[in-house]
Amino acid sequence: MTKSPVRKIVIAGNWKMYKTQAESLEFLRGFLPSLDETPQDREVVLCVPFTDLNVLSKSLHGSRVQLGAQNVHWEEFGAYTGEISGPMLSEIGVRYVIVGHSERRQYFGETDYTVNLRLKAAQRFGLTPILCVGETKQQRDKLETESLIANQLEKNLVDVDQENLVIAYEPIWAIGTGDTCESKEANRIIGFIRSKLSNPDVPIQYGGSVKPNNIDEIMAQSEIDGVLVGGASLEPESFARIANYK
Ligand code: 13P
Repeated sequence: MTKSPVRKIVIAGNWKMYKTQAESLEFLRGFLPSLDETPQDREVVLCVPFTDLNVLSKSLHGSRVQLGAQNVHWEEFGAYTGEISGPMLSEIGVRYVIVGHSERRQYFGETDYTVNLRLKAAQRFGLTPILCVGETKQQRDKLETESLIANQLEKNLVDVDQENLVIAYEPIWAIGTGDTCESKEANRIIGFIRSKLSNPDVPIQYGGSVKPNNIDEIMAQSEIDGVLVGGASLEPESFARIANYK
């Protein structure tokens, strides 16, 4: 299957709450040399904990890896203890930010409304948001996958600029479980997501137990424009193999 020549390929790691600064630098020492062979049309992104951003921003300067954060508040500044704003991220060279990850929706009270506020703020302050959507196992079993995702997209994308956006389809049952969504099914759902967008060229990633041994098959699917990788992005060798998919 051939890929669209228009849509950008985005290979992103989501480190979640892993790696101190020292560990993040150690990762780069192993990882950066492996990118010499990575085709130029692939955007490689590392979405790291807030405390790693500053040091990685300096270390990634001049490399082809773009820096991403894992959350952003919707105000420019204010009395919001524990939050980080768009200008704080863009000032240090952050280009991407994950918004609406299922772990934030599940454990930290993120709602479709606050996801929408964060998406708009990211764009307002010069960041490209990576919006995560996806269903639970229970919703899939009840054949609610499409209606759930359509509902998320409808609420999350109000007044969001689809020219500066990445979407990740992350079925919750596939995250951290080793139970990857079958690539043809991921392709089908991503095609469904695309059919709901006003801009069909938005890059849409798959996320959920992406590993070196399934990346080639995933990236061979016509609708899948990249991946959002958790566990396998923590080891330089495995994330390099993913960025260098065949
Ligand atoms: P895993 O790759 O560990 O399943 O995590 C996926 C994910 O949540 C990426 O955002």
